[in-house]
Amino acid sequence: MQYDVIVIGSGPGGYVAAIRCAQLGMKTAIVEKYKTLGGTCLNVGCIPSKALLDSSEHFYNAAHTFAEHGIKLADLQVDLPQMIKRKAGVVEANVTGISFLMKKNKITVHQGFGSFVDANTLKVKKEDGSEEQITTKNFIIATGSKPSSFPSMPIDKKRIITSTEALTLQEVPKHLIVIGAGVIGAELGSVYARIGSKVSFVEFADSMIPTMDKTMGKELQKAVKKLGAEFYFSHKVTSVENTGEGVVVKADNPKGEQITIEGDYCLVSVGRRPYTDGLNLEAAGLAVDNRGRIEVDNHLRTNVPNIYAIGDVIRGAMLAHKAEEEGVFVAETLAGQKPHVNYRLIPGVVYTWPEVASVGFTEEELKQEGRAYKVGTFPYKALGRARASMDLDGLVKVLADKQTDEILGMHIIGARAADMIAEGVVAMEYRASAEDIARISHAHPTYTEAIKEACLAATENRAIHM
Ligand code: FAD
Ligand code: NAI
Repeated sequence: MQYDVIVIGSGPGGYVAAIRCAQLGMKTAIVEKYKTLGGTCLNVGCIPSKALLDSSEHFYNAAHTFAEHGIKLADLQVDLPQMIKRKAGVVEANVTGISFLMKKNKITVHQGFGSFVDANTLKVKKEDGSEEQITTKNFIIATGSKPSSFPSMPIDKKRIITSTEALTLQEVPKHLIVIGAGVIGAELGSVYARIGSKVSFVEFADSMIPTMDKTMGKELQKAVKKLGAEFYFSHKVTSVENTGEGVVVKADNPKGEQITIEGDYCLVSVGRRPYTDGLNLEAAGLAVDNRGRIEVDNHLRTNVPNIYAIGDVIRGAMLAHKAEEEGVFVAETLAGQKPHVNYRLIPGVVYTWPEVASVGFTEEELKQEGRAYKVGTFPYKALGRARASMDLDGLVKVLADKQTDEILGMHIIGARAADMIAEGVVAMEYRASAEDIARISHAHPTYTEAIKEACLAATENRAIHM
């Protein structure tokens, strides 16, 4: 065999798995169909979307809050092509970094499309049409996911678009219709709402980000509404049509009546599907479940003993950091170690502003389980730090076990929630009680004081500043 392990796909799951395998002394190769490494996350996902979120936030602040800070600007304009160009530069710096890491760790990169020949052999078809076969003792499949859609929403990549096209638009839409107010819809919808688009969300469920704690969706909707967005909740989209100059979306409202919304672009963000197209799984004897995900056991091993799978292509949250943890897990398993991933404590973040971040059980899940719990909340508007920065929208919500006081969930909406949630993850990993966190000194003035205060509120309803 040429290699100890071949990783297929160079997203955050694949490239992290490859690095950890190499660190553990395995002869490692990675196969990537695109010219640049980094997968969805670095090329058309996490990184470019955050670059645009930051740019649009700067513009929004310059237009709406700078004057209050005593900063006057005249003739403020959006230069979308420049925003997109800066985003491309950020992506390039990141993907170049991954190529450097591959060299540093002596990982062989095979650029080309991989498909199985058998359980130890992969055919790699290169861009120039030539093919090579490479052999290995073990495979790690990390081929990720692609946007999904429904027949009623035919993606044409021009007017009816996915997140990938929304990251490269050259004009600010006058009216962007977003189907699905989940994570992508909320993030990219708020980018365009901030830089001047009218944004309409059409969502099947009855709130934004419906899988997160209900309080978060409610608060986020208030914040996004301030950007001028409108919402069609509990609506079922029946058709989306590109008329040449724009789009027409038809949907059934909760009463069963048809409504029509006209816009110039329609972003379809109704979820993503695992991507195994052309991988020729059958040749290796691999099985997928009824949703097209590669089946794995608790060790992330497929039904073929020397083949593992990680990241978006298997069950679980479609998140970069979940894929990374799984990459390390499989590498260490292959090296004979006994690693562990705590799936209950993978945080979820929505990078709108205010940000939403969450870990552990939601209140709805605890109710459903019939578990006795306490709630402590603390609003940002009572924080000195939030007043200083004028980031007053938001709250921290802590859920703790009624008897033991153990923290069961932490949900934050507000400035810097994405970074703050790490405290909740650490607390829950060490099974801290709400009172444990309430008794830890938190620097003043910081947003993290809201975590301490929410924990005080959960302990015995004894928040100090409320
Ligand atoms: P991917 O990153 O999808 O990588 C798979 C790679 O495999 C791709 O490069 C693909 O070209 C390659 N590949 C596939 N098939 C083959 C083949 N046969 N041969 C060779 N190569 C192949 N997650 C977060 O945690 N935080 C965020 O902020 C965030 N933001 C996002 C924003 C957007 C707009 C999108 C779309 C996603 C976002 N995600 C975010 C999700 C995140 O991108 C994914 O969870 C993550 O990329 C999954 O990693 P992966 O390694 O499983 O697969
Ligand atoms: P999602 O699952 O977050 O949201 C999809 C939304 O579309 C849901 O609210 C759903 O109710 C709605 N929906 C489904 N079918 C519909 C229909 N027919 N009509 C109207 N609404 C409909 O999926 P999304 O936003 O596409 O993102 C895909 C994945 O990418 C997510 O699983 C997420 O984990 C990942 N991602 C993560 C980010 C982050 O971590 N910050 C950012 C962007 C994406």
